[in-house]
Amino acid sequence: MQERLKELQAEALAKVEKASDLKELNEIRVAYLGKKGPITEVLKGMGKLSAEERPVMGALANEVRDSISSAIESKHKHLEEAAIQQKLASESIDVTLPGRPVKIGNHHPLTRIIEEIEDLFIGMGYAIAEGPEVEKDYYNFEALNLPKGHPARDMQDSFYITEEILLRTHTSPVQARTMEKHQGKGPVKIICPGKVYRRDNDDATHSHQFMQIEGLVVDENIRMSDLKGTLEVFAKKMFGEDREIRLRPSFFPFTEPSVEMDISCKICGGNGCSVCKGTGWIEILGAGMVHPNVLEMAGFDSKKYTGFAFGMGPERIAMLKYGIDDIRHFYTNDIRFLKQFSVTE
Ligand code: PHE
Repeated sequence: MQERLKELQAEALAKVEKASDLKELNEIRVAYLGKKGPITEVLKGMGKLSAEERPVMGALANEVRDSISSAIESKHKHLEEAAIQQKLASESIDVTLPGRPVKIGNHHPLTRIIEEIEDLFIGMGYAIAEGPEVEKDYYNFEALNLPKGHPARDMQDSFYITEEILLRTHTSPVQARTMEKHQGKGPVKIICPGKVYRRDNDDATHSHQFMQIEGLVVDENIRMSDLKGTLEVFAKKMFGEDREIRLRPSFFPFTEPSVEMDISCKICGGNGCSVCKGTGWIEILGAGMVHPNVLEMAGFDSKKYTGFAFGMGPERIAMLKYGIDDIRHFYTNDIRFLKQFSVTE
């Protein structure tokens, strides 16, 4: 019996020594130390031993069992440690690898232009005003001296929602709304950027939805020269100090007199090229002195107050400034186009 125990001990210790993973080690533990294992089996035969032999054999059996279990324990620790090391090695990262570049978005070119124009006018003491895109016929037309049936309504083909409600065709209704809020008291000095809608077929220079920036100043003694000076500062800041402006007579029902402003062509320096269609000038905005009817309808005394207004298209300004040849680029979200206006790349 003694020999059998020694044999089992040697056999178990050798297997523990050879075990290569925790699963195998556990199988050895169950096999040798479990209730159905060979040591238990041997001990069952103790009953047959004499009274003197029994304690000796008992002590030996315990010793064998202890030696096997402590060998398993230390092997267990060893294997566990090895497993951790292996995991660490397989999951190691190379901190010296160059990082992946983070793609940062950038402002849309139109947003950039609008913010630039806003900053410029804020610097001249203007406030920013906003109005609804779904507008009443009254503010879009009537309050701007365009009564129902007025032929000039055709200048702006409209998207009507009901007979009295439409998508605004310009930002000029914000003029009427702002003046109304001032309840006949000046000064009013605002610019209003926003989306407008017209029933146009989209092509390189037309879009059924585009942006406008409206400007309005109402106070005592506002003159045409104030309008001209303001627009000149704007044009030079926006396009360069060497640009010249000219005002051409025009017609808008809500301004009298009305003008259109051109800037000298940057491409040809005024000599005439394809961009300025040989004229040396490029049209940039519409403007004029606020029509007395418009002032009166909004509650201003047109004998005391005068004002000027202007309206421009940021797309057109961006197209000229950045040399963009198709208005649709602003609205088709082609990342290759938009990326060119990134500040970071
Ligand atoms: N609302 C005009 C347009 O859309 C532009 C404009 C604004 C003209 C203000 C004069 C004064 O064409």
